[in-house]
Amino acid sequence: MPLVSMRQLLDEAAKGGYGVGAFNVNDMEQIQAIMMAAKETKSPVIVQASRGARQFAEDLYLFKLIQAAAELNPEIPIAMHQDHGNSFETCKSAIELGYTSVMMDGSLKSDGKTPSTFEENVEVTRKVVDFAHERGVTVEGEIGVLGGVEDGHGAGGSGLDHITDPDQAVEFAERTGVDALAIAIGTSHGAYKFTKKPDGSVLKMDVLIAIHKRLPKTHLVMHGSSSVPKDLQDVVNQYGGKLKETWGVPVEEIQLGIRNGVRKINVDTDNRLAITGAIRKVLWETPEKFDPRDYLKPAREAMKKVVAARMVEFGQAGHAGDYAPISIEQIAKGYKDGSLSTRPLVASK
Ligand code: G3H
Ligand code: 13P
Ligand code: ZN
Repeated sequence: MPLVSMRQLLDEAAKGGYGVGAFNVNDMEQIQAIMMAAKETKSPVIVQASRGARQFAEDLYLFKLIQAAAELNPEIPIAMHQDHGNSFETCKSAIELGYTSVMMDGSLKSDGKTPSTFEENVEVTRKVVDFAHERGVTVEGEIGVLGGVEDGHGAGGSGLDHITDPDQAVEFAERTGVDALAIAIGTSHGAYKFTKKPDGSVLKMDVLIAIHKRLPKTHLVMHGSSSVPKDLQDVVNQYGGKLKETWGVPVEEIQLGIRNGVRKINVDTDNRLAITGAIRKVLWETPEKFDPRDYLKPAREAMKKVVAARMVEFGQAGHAGDYAPISIEQIAKGYKDGSLSTRPLVASK
């Protein structure tokens, strides 16, 4: 199956009332792990690459690997997504390479650190939407700012510093025409999200629910959604790692989000932990080994296990065969003739 539009994946997820995991990749083993999990659970899937990942893998290597994944798994709908695009140029280059979806993260200036103004965010996101939709490519925007820093990207600080304002979310969706909207509800990137198990006072699920009430048909996106499970932390620490005590986003909170309009859930850190734990274990227990396959194979398997579990928990499992892919050209026509709406349905307060 060719790579499909993320808009199609999310529209189908909305119909089915489930969420779709968006998993970050940097290399072949991570792509294989995701495809093994998607195949096993019969899941549609979003594969995403950050700017750092594209740089690390030299762009073309990564994109050809995704094409190989699509070719080898014709029964799995795969959307290839640019994660946290920092500028129009970054999104344009991903689209020109063949990505079927981009995130324009205009919540930060192009340095990827400084929060931008609302007007700057609307302007750059709108520009990306115009360019992308003409080519049948999906756009995710972000309103509100996540906490934490990954690979130099992020505003830093706690996830509670810039929670999304529901009125601004409505105005942003109306003025930009984005297909999916990332909101800030107190999560942050990376392993160190919370210093205690988050309860209702930490994650702003009430804000998410308020936004969903105002924008009932808009696909919401949760970033920073790794659960940072204790068992994965323990494996890392048992074999020489030095992770500090930490908590992630409980899966039940994500499921509550899915019942309230969340259709895309971003997960990277849990897979990083699984991979690192598996590699540490092999090198710790059998220090005489030096063939990379001896530790990359268990690492790939450990990531596959995490991804498969999330696919079941998010509800995308079993939905790979629900629909036939719509070509990107058809999607572009849909945006042009209005059959694919970019005007959000707005409910009154
Ligand atoms: O945006 C966060 C993802 O975990 C990607 O992280 O920028 O270190 O590749 P990265
Ligand atoms: P985590 O760091 O929680 O896995 O979040 C990943 C993410 O949001 C990628 O955009
Ligand atoms: Zn993110």
